[in-house]
Amino acid sequence: MGAGYVGGPTMAVIAHNCPNLQVTVVDVNNDKISRWNDPDISKIPVFEPGLENIVKETRFKNLHFSTNFEEGIRKADIIFISVNTPTKEKGVGAGHASDLRFVESSARLVGKYSQGHTIVVEKSTVPIRTAATIMSILDSIKDSQDKKTFDVLSNPEFLAEGTAINDLQCPDRVLIGGNNSHAIDALERIYLNWVDKEKIIRTNLWSSELSKLSANAFLAQRVSSINATAELCEVTGADINEVAYAIGKDRRIGSNFLKAGPGFGGSCFTKDILNLVYLCEYFGLIEASKYWKQVITINNHQKNRISKVIADKLFGTLTEKKIAVLGFSFKSNTNDTRQSPAIRICKNLLEEGAYLAIHDPKVSKSQIAIDLGCQEINDQNKNNDFNKWEFFEKIEDAVHSADAVVILCDWECYKKLDWRDISNIMRSPSWLFDTRDVVNIKSLKDLDLNLWKLGIG
Ligand code: UDX
Ligand code: UDX
Repeated sequence: MGAGYVGGPTMAVIAHNCPNLQVTVVDVNNDKISRWNDPDISKIPVFEPGLENIVKETRFKNLHFSTNFEEGIRKADIIFISVNTPTKEKGVGAGHASDLRFVESSARLVGKYSQGHTIVVEKSTVPIRTAATIMSILDSIKDSQDKKTFDVLSNPEFLAEGTAINDLQCPDRVLIGGNNSHAIDALERIYLNWVDKEKIIRTNLWSSELSKLSANAFLAQRVSSINATAELCEVTGADINEVAYAIGKDRRIGSNFLKAGPGFGGSCFTKDILNLVYLCEYFGLIEASKYWKQVITINNHQKNRISKVIADKLFGTLTEKKIAVLGFSFKSNTNDTRQSPAIRICKNLLEEGAYLAIHDPKVSKSQIAIDLGCQEINDQNKNNDFNKWEFFEKIEDAVHSADAVVILCDWECYKKLDWRDISNIMRSPSWLFDTRDVVNIKSLKDLDLNLWKLGIG
């Protein structure tokens, strides 16, 4: 249940590795399901390297996309709940706690339409003890005539967008939490089709749920730590790449996830840490809750300070200046913009009066309009204050006559740009702000282009 960034790729990889299983992905969103079923494979709603090939091989054979929940649930022996769990916007825990209404409504549908024994698997990241909520909903619905029975397992996803297929195909570990070893065995048998047994970790339900939240909090904390270090590098003359390399060589620290950038985004990190903050507060663990909150504070600061650096370098004013923004997704190799640092940074720049020329290889103009909360500039709205942005399909058009270029994602195409050509068509004095370590400093030697690099200055 849920044909999004998690449900779609995860179920495609299961179908690909288990030709003997029939996998049906159901979703309430008609448009999304039509796109998953579109004969033109490039129209599927999730961009993820390697996904199109897997879907092409399995779709209409043992991988199906549908809006028919009743049939999908009725026929299923195992149901993965992969619906979204946004942060609550109102009521108790607003701004921190997860809104479980979709998980709850999914559980009610399972209770209503399932037949015989059904194993319900929590795939979505959820606050700890959500399995108990699901179980109590199922218990309240089951009726003795139907002979419906259920097991609930937690099997969190650890895929990172942009590398989802590889992460699913070659996972570091698969975590299955549950109270009934037969149900765990059944799910384990699916993974054993392509994952070594040593990589499958079996725990109780709550350990599994908490491990997912904590793993994401630890990862996000590393990003905030390296970003805080980057800011210090800029004022001291240290170089963040040298520092990250040096500290990463300590095997206890390790070299992964030490790349400074414009702040972490994505659907999980902020939400999961807020969740942890809420849990700690709920149990009266105030110091622990403040500790995790600080990871978010540094992340927000990172986004805001980048727009401030840009304004400062451009003489303190952005009014009437054209700034080309390269990269709008929350990281390269995905079309997902949820919590993308580009959103805050662009909004800040628009508030300062800049005109933004935005480019991204995979994000659509309509998605950017939703994220920025305003339509692209056109003849009718050109006198409004906060909508001075335009989307460009071609990088050359975005950078033409720009006062500054800001790189927010390390998409491969940005690494190959010829800065000599670009500097020739920009307006002087022109600036390049590289927040993702895409530009080689040496390649700009002798060019009429000022460079600011995050973590170097
Ligand atoms: C989401 C969460 O963000 C993540 O924390 C969790 O681990 C997995 O679920 P994702 O797949 O990236 O991740 O979300 P999204 O792309 O929004 O997909 C969720 C899908 O569920 C949407 O297509 C939505 O239409 C569908 N949905 C939601 C339902 O089918 N029924 C509902 O009641 C609610
Ligand atoms: C994350 C977890 O990695 C994954 O295990 C979990 O299941 C879901 O959440 P995701 O959000 O898709 O995955 O991407 P990830 O690669 O973790 O990146 C998150 C953010 O951190 C991105 O904005 C990325 O640019 C940023 N990041 C990551 C850095 O700034 N520096 C790094 O070194 C790594």
